[in-house]
Amino acid sequence: MILITGGRGAVATDLLSLLRADGHAVQVGSRRAEQLPAGVPAVACDLRDPGTFAAALDGVSSVFLYAEPECSTEFVSAAAEAGVDHIVLLSSSAVLDPDATSNPVAKSHLDAELGLADAPMTVSVLRPGAFAGNARGWSFAIKADRPVSLPYPDAYADPIHELDVAECAHALLTKPDHRGGVYTLTGPQTLTFTAQIDLITKVTGRAATIVHVTPDAWKQEVAEFIPAHYADGLLDYWRRCDGVPTPITDTVTTLTAHPARPFTTWLEDHASEFIG
Ligand SMILES: NC(=O)c1ccc[n+]([C@@H]2O[C@H](COP(=O)([O-])OP(=O)(O)OC[C@H]3O[C@@H](n4cnc5c(N)ncnc54)[C@H](OP(=O)(O)O)[C@@H]3O)[C@@H](O)[C@H]2O)c1
Repeated sequence: MILITGGRGAVATDLLSLLRADGHAVQVGSRRAEQLPAGVPAVACDLRDPGTFAAALDGVSSVFLYAEPECSTEFVSAAAEAGVDHIVLLSSSAVLDPDATSNPVAKSHLDAELGLADAPMTVSVLRPGAFAGNARGWSFAIKADRPVSLPYPDAYADPIHELDVAECAHALLTKPDHRGGVYTLTGPQTLTFTAQIDLITKVTGRAATIVHVTPDAWKQEVAEFIPAHYADGLLDYWRRCDGVPTPITDTVTTLTAHPARPFTTWLEDHASEFIG
């Protein structure tokens, strides 16, 4: 059986559909297992609470694991005890930043990777860049006919459709070919935030505009949702990507045998979220 952790997340949800479609036995772990849709085989699993590990891992041979480093030693021990022979970790390409150890966004993923470094089972690591779904953060302003506040409108990103990330995880969990590797995943194009906002207008038909704000003003605007140290990490990252195209990989094609979906496909799939 395969355990999917972080069950309420976008990648986990797509991965569950893919694994069920080809008949794999799956169990979905979540901190809020009771909130998973009816019919999902749910189990309590909080990666910060080792008390939940034994039950979540009972009968499990492979795990799709979210990057939560706090109790990784305990998780690896419990997984080994349960007989798990393969873990696919959802990390981040942020670990490749030269300042990864001082950036909180990158460091938590780096620590999660290091937490599995001596694991006795096979470990495969997915390092996606920016999820296309990050565009959801702009949808509230767009639906309210307000401009989207951007501290670095010319910063580049490599938006990847979460379904592509899920398909890469599915390939690693179900086929032996690429098991045990480390994979940097990107979308097919590097796009500035301004270009992404323009595509939202083009694809959804809902006019999206931008206001260029200072980093401090942005931090204050998002303070309710994004902790200050995490906001600083994002600002640091965007500052370094300002005017600098992100390198694109063809790893999605290597793992799934099809090219990564463009940002416009994600927008077509989620247009209603911008129209309201
Ligand atoms: N957004 C990006 O651009 C991006 C890029 C690269 C990597 N990533 C990584 O991909 C993952 C999902 O990102 P997202 O932006 O899609 O976030 P999200 O939608 O907010 O999802 C967060 C996910 O993390 C799980 N989670 C959080 N704390 C957990 C814990 N203690 N135990 C078990 N599961 C826990 C949640 O599962 P439950 O609530 O069901 O427990 C949920 O599925 C994160 O690890 C993120 O760092 C994101």
